[in-house]
Amino acid sequence: MPISFDSNTKRFHISTVNSSYIIEIFKSGYLRHNYYGKRVKSTELASNYFLEDRAFSPNPDVLDKTFSLDTLPQEYPSYGNSDYRVPAFQVQAEDGGTITDLRYKAYRIYKGKEKLEGLPSIYVEKDEEAETLEITLFDEVLKLQVILTYTVMEGFDVILRSTRFINSGESKLKLLRALSMNVDFDDADFDLIHLWGAWARERHIERKPLFAGTQIIDSKRGASSHQHNPFMALARKNADEDNGEVYGFNIVYSGNFIIDAEVDQFLNTRVNLGINPFDFSWLLEKGESFQTPEVVMVYTDKGLGDMSRTFHRLYRSRLCRGKYRDEVRPILINNWEATYFDFDPQKIEKIAITAKEMGIELFVLDDGWFGNRTDDKTSLGDWFVDKNRFPGGIEDFADRVNKQGMKFGLWFEPEMISKTSNLYSEHPDWCLHVPNRENTEGRNQLILDLSRDEVCDQIIKMVSDILKSAPISYVKWDMNRHMTEIGSAKLSIDRQRETAHRYILGLYKVMEKITTSFPDILFESCSGGGGRFDPGILYYMPQTWTSDDTDAVERLKIQYGTSLVYPPSAMGAHVSAVPNHVLERVTSLEMRGAVAMSGNFGYELDLNKLTNEEREIIKQQVALCKQIRGITEYGDFYRLKSPFEGNETSWMSVSPDKKEAVVFYFKVLGEPNVINRRLKLKGINLENNYEIVNEELSYLGDELTYVGLPIPYKTGDFTSVIWRLKAK
Ligand code: DGJ
Repeated sequence: MPISFDSNTKRFHISTVNSSYIIEIFKSGYLRHNYYGKRVKSTELASNYFLEDRAFSPNPDVLDKTFSLDTLPQEYPSYGNSDYRVPAFQVQAEDGGTITDLRYKAYRIYKGKEKLEGLPSIYVEKDEEAETLEITLFDEVLKLQVILTYTVMEGFDVILRSTRFINSGESKLKLLRALSMNVDFDDADFDLIHLWGAWARERHIERKPLFAGTQIIDSKRGASSHQHNPFMALARKNADEDNGEVYGFNIVYSGNFIIDAEVDQFLNTRVNLGINPFDFSWLLEKGESFQTPEVVMVYTDKGLGDMSRTFHRLYRSRLCRGKYRDEVRPILINNWEATYFDFDPQKIEKIAITAKEMGIELFVLDDGWFGNRTDDKTSLGDWFVDKNRFPGGIEDFADRVNKQGMKFGLWFEPEMISKTSNLYSEHPDWCLHVPNRENTEGRNQLILDLSRDEVCDQIIKMVSDILKSAPISYVKWDMNRHMTEIGSAKLSIDRQRETAHRYILGLYKVMEKITTSFPDILFESCSGGGGRFDPGILYYMPQTWTSDDTDAVERLKIQYGTSLVYPPSAMGAHVSAVPNHVLERVTSLEMRGAVAMSGNFGYELDLNKLTNEEREIIKQQVALCKQIRGITEYGDFYRLKSPFEGNETSWMSVSPDKKEAVVFYFKVLGEPNVINRRLKLKGINLENNYEIVNEELSYLGDELTYVGLPIPYKTGDFTSVIWRLKAK
């Protein structure tokens, strides 16, 4: 049983394959957090907690000066009655008071896992796959129930957490802060690792020691954002790729989020995560409830690589859904960087024809096919085909692509509205806005108010009409600005600060409806590249355009950083033209191909402008990708060399049965009089004899692991090597 309760000791023990999480009902019903870490059999020692009389830490029980919430490790800390650290939640009562006092009320353990209302979450296919604990806490004065949920997924080594608030009293309550979870560690000997960046520079890894005080990773942009990802890991100082304790946290949410890590006066660390309380509140009328997003927690003592593979396995099979969850993804060509808005059907059909000759399987028509959209100033919201450009409509063009033997895909940006559009003329109040304030435009566009049902319904209708009208196999769902003037014409004054979260709930509703109504379509999300690369969106769309930056060197860092949490099967990666359109760097076609082939492979350039020799290389790349994509997309991913540490990068994927592997090695700048080195492989079977495909060589797994493959000497900059290993 992964979850147990001992009624004598009043302790809950939650166990995954490798971790234990222990909670105790302590002193008059406070929920104490006793332990989270390497799996243990007994709950005794962790419960033997230091209790001291501490100055300036008030005592709820006058008879016990050693008891203070300020020094107690807690499961879900309140605000206002002696704990001065950052609380997990805060509620305002009708009388204006913001104090809460939660005490244990009840628990329930059950097989399986319930869906979170209106929110994406990890799912089970059978109840046997999970066990769930719900602990109900209660505030007697406010009549507020808080239900903490913990799910253990059998075979996945993760704990999933979320929280539900229920107003079971007569008066209104306002949630000012409602985080998904809290965990109190009894030391601070950690490095904090997170993913940060900007447009075209997403998910770079930063690792810094925790310091006394609060460190915050967050987004206030209305989206999970390019700038910060809803992920944080706490790693022991000695933890590296392969060894050491790491705790990973990832919020299944696509909007404003916060991750707090507070190191207190006794060098304990409080971590709490969830929806960002900044500019947020939520009114709970009598009987109403509020569900927080889910957080995935991974503990390992085998380093960052093991943490990543745990996230990857879970996300590939119990977060992503639909037909493409288990299917290799088509190799695509997208016309965006080939043509931008400057195209007609003849021009792009020529690209599709050449792509077919190269073995490419899907043609994607990007921005510019609808309304009157000849540049980025108009027509978002007018989701009907531009008959000037496509006299025969999308159906005719899709048919022409299909006749070439290729699938057809289409770009949308459904959450947006251009001021120059029919939709805006008809419904000027359908955008997010605040009365008496000018709307700020971003990329010449405003954001539709998805907190409104009629707006969501209209989006569903417009997108569905197009999807029904033509043989469309793939959709790229884009979103190209962040929120400003966050307010809704439909919400009452005291609910205005609900707008940003209601928008995300509306978005999830729209995505759920559209993706389940068109189960055969492969959906790829995008937000100016990887501005919304988060598990919330992956629940609806199994892949994301990783970055608008397709420069092969930049992509090493972007894809390496992304892989800390998200599997290669989720990363869209394309070969584009040189000089690169973002950086103007000229890299080799060989390296561009190898970097892109490490994710969901595609091209984004005009193939007709290439030389015969380049097209021959592309043919070979496409053929190779078809042979290895089952492993790169669905194998276990190992990072070998970090682009954040030097001139070389390397990673590899190993098939689940360890019979096959693909190893990638990249060297950015050439070196004179090269220093010869070997590349030590990971994750393969030490006993297997592996053939190096096309090299007539074979080596035992132990030699490949401990001695390593000699890295061939190549002259010039931007070189790469791909090895394929097959067990004999
Ligand atoms: C931003 C995306 O990231 C690009 O790939 C492209 O689809 C453009 N939008 C189109 O406007």
